[in-house]
Parts: sequence; C-alpha cells; structure tokens
Amino acid sequence: MTSVDDDARSAGDDDAVIFANATQVVTCAGPARARRGAEMADAGARQGVAVAVMRGLVAAVAPLAELRATYGVSREIDCRGGVLMPGLVDSHTHGVFGRARSDEQELRAAGLDYMEIARRGGGIHASVRDLRATDEEMLFTLARDRLARLAAFGTTTIEVKSGYGLSLDDELKMLRVIDRLRRDLPTRIVPTFLGAHEIPLEYRTSAMTRAAYIETVVNDMIPLVAKNGLARFADVFCETGVYTVDESRTILSAARRAGLLLKLHADELTSSGGAELAAALAATSADHLGAVSEAGIEVLARSSTVATLLPGTMLCLGKSTRAPARRLIESGVPVALATDFNPGTSPTPNLPLILTLGVSQLHMSASEAVIAATVNGAAALGIADHVGQIAPGFAADLALFDVQDLRDVPYWYGDNRCVATFVGGKPCHSSDLGLC
Ligand code: NIG
Ligand code: FE
Repeated sequence: MTSVDDDARSAGDDDAVIFANATQVVTCAGPARARRGAEMADAGARQGVAVAVMRGLVAAVAPLAELRATYGVSREIDCRGGVLMPGLVDSHTHGVFGRARSDEQELRAAGLDYMEIARRGGGIHASVRDLRATDEEMLFTLARDRLARLAAFGTTTIEVKSGYGLSLDDELKMLRVIDRLRRDLPTRIVPTFLGAHEIPLEYRTSAMTRAAYIETVVNDMIPLVAKNGLARFADVFCETGVYTVDESRTILSAARRAGLLLKLHADELTSSGGAELAAALAATSADHLGAVSEAGIEVLARSSTVATLLPGTMLCLGKSTRAPARRLIESGVPVALATDFNPGTSPTPNLPLILTLGVSQLHMSASEAVIAATVNGAAALGIADHVGQIAPGFAADLALFDVQDLRDVPYWYGDNRCVATFVGGKPCHSSDLGLC
C-alpha cells in the first residue's frame, strides 16, 4: 500500500485506485441536485468503507475487502485514519485581481462604510484602475498562485468572475486569464461574466452615460463573451447605489438570450428585491442575501434558485447582520456556502473557515455546512449531476482531511487540516508534496 506521499499519480487510466483506511468517508450521496430542508441534515458519513476510483470516476464505496475482491490488482492510497470528503466547491469568487486592498480594511475600522469608500472612488473602482494597468501575464501569475491557495484548503472546483475590467477590452482580458486558468490548473474552474459589477466611474456622470454603459454590456460584451465561450454564467451586482432591479433584469435577460446561465449578487447590504428577481428569472443562484426580505425567502423557496451565502464577507466588512440561513433552510431553500474570495470584502482562500462561520454565525449543523459546500455548491454551478458526491458515476473529486469526524472540519477553525485533494482521480494538491 502506498501513502499520499507516493499517491495515485502513477496509476494507469484503466487501473482502479482504492482510497483505504479513512476513519470516515463523507459521501454526500443522494439525489444529483440541490438539497433542501431536511435533505441537508445528512451528509452521509460512513465508517468501515473505502472508495474505488476508475477512469476519473467513483466506481464504488464499500468495505475494503469487498473492493479488493472486485478490483483485484489495484493501487491503494492510505488515508491514514483521516476523513475523506467530496472536494469542496467554491461557487463564488472574484479570483482574478491585481493588488490587495488592505488599506480599505483600516478605513473601515476607522468608521468608513464599504459603500462610502466606493462613493469616494475606492472599493471595486480601485480594483478596476489596478486591473486595467496590470498586464495579462501578471494577472495570470497572481491568480494562479492565489487559486492554488484556495485548492490547498480542500477546494477542487472554483467559480471565478470577471468584473474588475468594466470595458470590453478589459473584461475580455480578465476572461482570457480565467480561460487560461481553466486549461492550466488541475482544479475545475467555472467562468462567470460580471461586466455589471459596478457602473465604471467614467460612465457615472449622468443618467445617459449610465444607460450607455448598460447598452455596451448588453449589445457588445454579452454577445462576444457568449460567442467565444468565455463564460458559463452572467452575474450582476444588484444593490442600492449600484445596479437597480430593472437594470439587472435587462442585463440578465440579454445574457439568457445569449445562452448564458444566470447568477445575481442579491440583497447583500440592503433589501432591494434581488432575491425576487433571481427567483423570477430562474437564476441558478442568488448570492449574499444578507438583507433578504421575507417575501424574497418565500419566492426562493418556490423556485429552483440556490441561495449562496457568503458569511466571510459580513465578517470582513465588520457587519453584524447575517444571512438568515436557518429561515432559508427551514423554508426549503437550498443553501450553498462560498468564500466570495476577492480583494475588497473577503480575501480568505479558506473554505473550511467559511464552514466554521456557517456553523457558528449562521447556526447551520456541520452536515448542513458540508452539503452547502459540496452538493449545493455544485448545484449553484449547474454541475450537481457529476460533481459534489462520493457516489458511483460521480467525478472522483476528493479532499482528505487530517481529522476523525466531519464535525472536526468546521471545528478546527482557521487551521488547514487538508492533506490532499484529487480532481477526476488525479492528484491536485498535497500538503506533503507541494502543489502538483
Ligand atoms: O461579492 N459585492 C460585490 N462584489 C464583491 C466585492 C468586490 C470588491 O469589493 O472588490 C462581493 O462582496
Ligand atoms: Fe461577490
């Protein structure tokens, strides 16, 4: 038997690889769609089983002796008594950017609000100036190294948004970087077009110029992005002072006509009808929801939209409001958790830490938090049919943690207990070997 030190990298494509000796295998097995209500309560933790992987897919979850008998000559990976889980799915990041914005953290500590910093030309505008001045190669290198940090915490799928370009050329530059990350990294990358992340300062001078920017997003950017296959999703920052509900509807409707799936930054700081719009458009996800209304929760519950909660953002912004996770879950809304990794409001690469916040701040159980960052994260990206579970036929995207129980993952908060990850059965990250 080999250990994770000399792991599966030499296994031939047709050989089975057996992941043995995990204290728990957290399967998250069940329907290949978003889980709601009581379905989120059981993450399917099993003891006394191993996992067989063939041709990049999970082949079986069964006692080790049974798998050895079935698969004969196979390679084994020693999980050393850890917990084996589906690789984590981070379904909301802004992972391509230039410089950090630690200066704004100090401004907020001194009493300046996030939106006030934006009104003074900082916030997203600061990252836009910076991104426009940074060359593509440098953006790629910065993003590659940052996404490797996300992967080191157990994340195997990462959604990455554009939205710091805010001009046709600069948005395309960002999307090309994301496309290169998708081709070059072992991690699964899902690209999202967020040309409506802000109204760029040069278009903020009048109602006419504001309308002109929205026209360029709709008429120039969306068709080109869709035609070149540079994004799977389109997203809009629908918020008081940024895009209105009507503007968001116009942009997302154009994106849908162009063949893109929809996401929405909805009701992050104020309740402005974002959740209602996401549900009405059957968006794949409505994200943030820190200020979602009761009416918003009710329409989400009747829709197919996943509520993606981002508690790291509220923590970093120093807000005392919290997304109503319990209300959402008890109303039957499927809930996902993600980092919102970005330079302004959530610079953490640590998705297990977000699970901690899910438990300690949003009152979710550990199982609910795990489902939220696996199956429901995959559903928020429209890939729950093949990602997010350790079950036969699903992609062998796995994360091994040096803990004995799934509750220990959110418990050891801030600590990195991830030992190794695999994407489609191939090593992605290993704490022993460095990045593969
Ligand atoms: O999801 N709220 C809008 N977008 C990001 C923040 C981006 C930034 O401040 O750079 C978010 O929190
Ligand atoms: Fe965001």
